[in-house]
Amino acid sequence: MIQTQMLLEGQDREILEGRKGQTLQKVLESVVLYGEAFGALKLVPLDGPVHLVTSFGIPLLRPVFDMMDEFIKNGIAAKSPFTVNPRPLDYENVRCNPLEKFAFKIMYGKQKDYESQLKLVGLKDENAFSCTCYMEEVGNIPKPGDRLAWAESSAVVYANSVLGARTNRNSGIIELFCGILGKAPLFGLLTEEGRRAVWLIDVKTKSLPHPQALGSAIGMKVVEDVPFIRGLDRFLGGELTPPVKDYFKELGAAGASNGAVGLFHVENLTPEAKKAGAALLAQNAKTYIIDDKELARVVASYPVMWKKPGSRPKLGFIGCPHLSLGQLGQWTEKVRKILEKEGRKKLKVRSVFCAAPDVVARFKKNPIAHRALLETGAKLTSICPLMYMNNPICSKKAVVTNSNKLRTYTTARFYPDEELLALLVKGR
Ligand code: F3S
Repeated sequence: MIQTQMLLEGQDREILEGRKGQTLQKVLESVVLYGEAFGALKLVPLDGPVHLVTSFGIPLLRPVFDMMDEFIKNGIAAKSPFTVNPRPLDYENVRCNPLEKFAFKIMYGKQKDYESQLKLVGLKDENAFSCTCYMEEVGNIPKPGDRLAWAESSAVVYANSVLGARTNRNSGIIELFCGILGKAPLFGLLTEEGRRAVWLIDVKTKSLPHPQALGSAIGMKVVEDVPFIRGLDRFLGGELTPPVKDYFKELGAAGASNGAVGLFHVENLTPEAKKAGAALLAQNAKTYIIDDKELARVVASYPVMWKKPGSRPKLGFIGCPHLSLGQLGQWTEKVRKILEKEGRKKLKVRSVFCAAPDVVARFKKNPIAHRALLETGAKLTSICPLMYMNNPICSKKAVVTNSNKLRTYTTARFYPDEELLALLVKGR
């Protein structure tokens, strides 16, 4: 048994002493040591299900698979049904050549087995694979003030900022341990102090900035600090409408990946900023002014990682993080209109739109919109494009995207929405 600084009582004490079995003891010890590394003095109960980041069956993760077997053997599962990040593959909608298929077969060789294990330790259902677990259609929706233990960075920043819930950016597997215990260590973004902003971001652009460019600029500047963003209500209004939430989904994902932002406040818009206003700002907060010139500087600083920088794009990914139902409809309309304007029937570049399985299912219930999207030649999938691209074969492809997260982790090139659309339609 480990020596802890943390005050553990009742059932936690029994688990720590090994009276509930060695496996649970190891789970608790891991969570306690993790919390203590960040100065946590106690564990607090979770108010909602966890969301897991590890969704892929890469054989290298053998210790994870062994650990899952141990849970299953001992009848250990999460306290509430959980959701998990997207699957890596969908041969039907994201075409692969025989060599790619061969590589994926090896890379994700344990996918089926791992999914069976996930089910046995508490996966919500077959469709629970998406980074946007908080969408109405998916149903893992925290309430304001809920304490959580999530790991996927884009979901963490959304839960904290847009929904007003409280979760740290936990490591993969630690979030599962927290889900099993129904508890998380109290530190960082779970505390009042940890949620105070230490940066004032003054947005002075002439029009609404691209969310993933703005998020990128903020993330690179503040890294893991909490920013308070001023000036967006000029363009977005004062209500958290579905399009505003989508805007923040994109902004947050970029900030969380181009930096390590786990929470942002937006003046007059996000729940905590609406309540407390500028009182959320720490006294000695630093200021970062973002105008059109600064945003252009940031976007121009992205390195081109294509093998042949002058290539024509071969593949486009839209939906990282996964698209909402509203965004799917808007993209369908945009693609349809630009094709009509250009006098073309189909997109020139293979274009893949990504959304949660439950969102795709709902979108298909509108056969007119669904058919309209497919008639452009676009494909609809629920995979994670990063998982698809993260291998030596696919990373050689000339991929374009409007996701700054995908750009950061892969060789994909970032383009703002309208430029991306033009590229997908004209092929150059
Ligand atoms: Fe989601 Fe994968 Fe992008 S988890 S945010 S689609 S990298």
